[in-house]
Amino acid sequence: MIGTSLEIAANYLHAGQVVAIPTETVYGLAGNALSEEALVKIFEIKNRPRFDPLIVHLADVNQISHYAAEFSEKAKKLAERFMPGPLTLLLPKRNLIPDLCTSGLAKVALRIPAHELTLKLLNQLPFPLAAPSANPFGYISPTTAQHVADQLGQKVPYILDGGPCKIGLESTIVGFEQGEAVIYRKGGLPVEAIQECIGKVHIQPHSSSNPAAPGMLKSHYAPRKPLLLGNISQMLERVDPLTSGVLSFRTQFPQVPPAQQVVLSPEGDDIQAARRFFAALRYLDSLPIEVILAELLPEQGLGRAINDRLTRAAARSTSLD
Ligand code: TXA
Ligand code: MG
Repeated sequence: MIGTSLEIAANYLHAGQVVAIPTETVYGLAGNALSEEALVKIFEIKNRPRFDPLIVHLADVNQISHYAAEFSEKAKKLAERFMPGPLTLLLPKRNLIPDLCTSGLAKVALRIPAHELTLKLLNQLPFPLAAPSANPFGYISPTTAQHVADQLGQKVPYILDGGPCKIGLESTIVGFEQGEAVIYRKGGLPVEAIQECIGKVHIQPHSSSNPAAPGMLKSHYAPRKPLLLGNISQMLERVDPLTSGVLSFRTQFPQVPPAQQVVLSPEGDDIQAARRFFAALRYLDSLPIEVILAELLPEQGLGRAINDRLTRAAARSTSLD
């Protein structure tokens, strides 16, 4: 059921059940982070391997020290500036976080979502919420309550509807190695904003075999249709435009039926493009077409995170060469 009742959502969560919640990034599949029983349900509903750990959502910055054993100056600076917001901090965990939540890793991922309804919910609960994105493992993240209902509606008792997600890309994950900040997943908080706050940061290149950041699996965020990445005009010379879908940044292509095209932002605004990105991929994936043709955005601002998702979505498909 989709609804807006905090009371119903809280009752299910108190009972150890799983509920979908809105955030500013994407919808999450939430359960009591301190309950193994609830955590098991999250992994099962998502069909997610147990080696891929979950982010823990808190009500405010003051709670970080309850769950993290260390909270460095750099991490504090980021937290004060960007939380609540699309930032997840990886910090050494305290024992009360179950190992299942971190897949046995020594660090826990903590985040405070900037969404009024979900912050109210977190404030009235006596426990934090573990929540991965509310999609089946490996598929596109949901940015509306309806997206969640379409795929997991039979498996979750309640979907808290907080409207369409304002940012539309998952949080940026930042950890620390030998005191240096490392971005493990590019996301809704631009790299530039982080650098402006704490200076230089390392960006971990994504790989499918890096156990420190299992979320960076290569073929993540993928539609079921093949997705080819490149110069759209050139690709259209080699495929049938009538059976192709197009995901472009700014321009339309006259050869392709308009209903098979999504232009993310005619004005070239990366923030608008991010907000529309996952819904656009879902829409194109639902059409009776053979292939989705897409192009990269300029590698700046949220364009970097969109390009990361596009590259991983394309990793599953064979190229035209
Ligand atoms: O914006 C977001 O972060 C959304 C909303 C719902 O908060 N959540 C989200 O969760 O994207 P998920 O599970 O789809 O992606 C989180 C990624 C995982 O792929 C996981 O590998 C990584 O974060 N992660 C979580 N805990 C970790 C840990 N302790 N160590 C390393 N990576 C971790
Ligand atoms: Mg996810």
